[in-house]
Amino acid sequence: MKTLLILCFTAAALPILGKTSAELYQEHCSHCHGIAFQGGNAQSLIDGIWQFGESTGHISRNIKFGITHLGMPAYADTLTDQEIRGLVDFLKKAESQADPEPLPLPTYLQTLDYEIQVDVFAEGLDTPWDIAFLNKDTALITERSGNLRVYADGRLYSKPVEGTPEVVAEGQGGLLAVAFDPDYAEEGNQWVYLAYSHGLEIGPNGRKAPAMTRIVRGRIDGNRWQDEEVIFEAPHETYRTTRHHYGTRIVFDQNKDLYFSIGDRGTGMNAQDPTRPNGKIHRIQRDGKIPRDNPYRRTKDAVKSIYSLGNRNPQGLVFHPETDELWASEHGPLGGDEINLIASGKNYGWPVITYGRNYNGSVISELTHKEGMEQPVWYWNPSTAVCGIDFYSGDLFPKWNNKLIVGALKYEDVRILSIEGHRVMHEEVILKNAGRVRDVCCGPDGAVYIVLNSPGTILKLTPKS
Ligand code: HEC
Repeated sequence: MKTLLILCFTAAALPILGKTSAELYQEHCSHCHGIAFQGGNAQSLIDGIWQFGESTGHISRNIKFGITHLGMPAYADTLTDQEIRGLVDFLKKAESQADPEPLPLPTYLQTLDYEIQVDVFAEGLDTPWDIAFLNKDTALITERSGNLRVYADGRLYSKPVEGTPEVVAEGQGGLLAVAFDPDYAEEGNQWVYLAYSHGLEIGPNGRKAPAMTRIVRGRIDGNRWQDEEVIFEAPHETYRTTRHHYGTRIVFDQNKDLYFSIGDRGTGMNAQDPTRPNGKIHRIQRDGKIPRDNPYRRTKDAVKSIYSLGNRNPQGLVFHPETDELWASEHGPLGGDEINLIASGKNYGWPVITYGRNYNGSVISELTHKEGMEQPVWYWNPSTAVCGIDFYSGDLFPKWNNKLIVGALKYEDVRILSIEGHRVMHEEVILKNAGRVRDVCCGPDGAVYIVLNSPGTILKLTPKS
């Protein structure tokens, strides 16, 4: 009798056939809207703002049919109407119980090798995306909304650099990567490189402006962006009205050639097509010319800057400090975030092979391997929402030299990967739940900098003395 009662009770609380709304939310939605609904790759679902309609009917429709041009998938094929209705009630309840106070940031971390002091390097930023150091006292920081911020003389300047390019700050787009020229200090150089979402004129009938990742360089003089040159612009017919998967980071190899990535812009098969710029890692010279040995330089109709194909949405790029090999992190679908070793002309398989599924749970491909396509060095399943990466090289944490620092948005963590040759041997989480990690950077002073979104803060990690 007692057992029966318990069974009845459990059956009411947890539908025995199928999953609870909380489980469905974590499985299907948390990747973009955050484990605690706080947002991230997509907006917060507990801020009281329902820009696409707040009635139960609107919200149900948005989940069922998606808002696909913005990257919100449709769930009509994978969730029942009842499950969707359950999710709407669940979200409404979460919204009404939301706690506006964020957790305090940590001041101390204990890791395997070090006791670490955590300081706030910069705060009050609006979705900071990338940080580049010129030297240990000077850095540039991008805010996705479009501002380029200067850190110098021990403080963040309140006024952004004036006259930087206009960006399409919608969805995942905006002002993204920033980098200093490898010869910045030489006379007459002083180039700064920016990657951003560039929009074309609004199309006929108020059609949404197509956009694509674009790279420019310019100089900063008297807090003004000047001498701008466009060094990469994709053919306009390849621009897309979607607002997600732009990539990107900017890095230079020992020849001082420039590498950057463009995500698939929401159309997986374009990643396999050399006539499209999206879903690729690119290589150009610093003035935009195509290096002589680029793999598609002589292929008719190909985008000549392509260096590798089949990359879904790489948001971390870094050269190994000793081997000069290019490593990339790739934001996968649900499951299948990857670390790849990038080589000229290679195909990394997206979306033909993958360890992930679509966000709505449907299958992308049954294949994880295929001849002619590269395997990742490492992958995460479930996805952590891997983002910025950097190799450590410095004096403050000598035991971390040549280890890969990896940031994750959804898992809100920073990991240290020990690598031997091309194999990841060990993984340690050193920071967790301080906020979504957009980028990690080993500074010229040997400190580790962590770029956090929500809150928009940059942390500085040094050994505790
Ligand atoms: C791949 C990322 C992604 C996943 C997974 C995802 N969403 Fe979204 N969602 C978005 C984006 C992008 C938007 C558009 C809003 C924006 O501009 O940020 C959106 C919008 C929405 C909206 C409209 C919000 C408003 O302001 O009106 C709702 C509701 C929503 N999502 C619910 C869900 C639910 C429930 C799930 C899981 C079943 C889910 N989403 C899964 C990316 C995602």
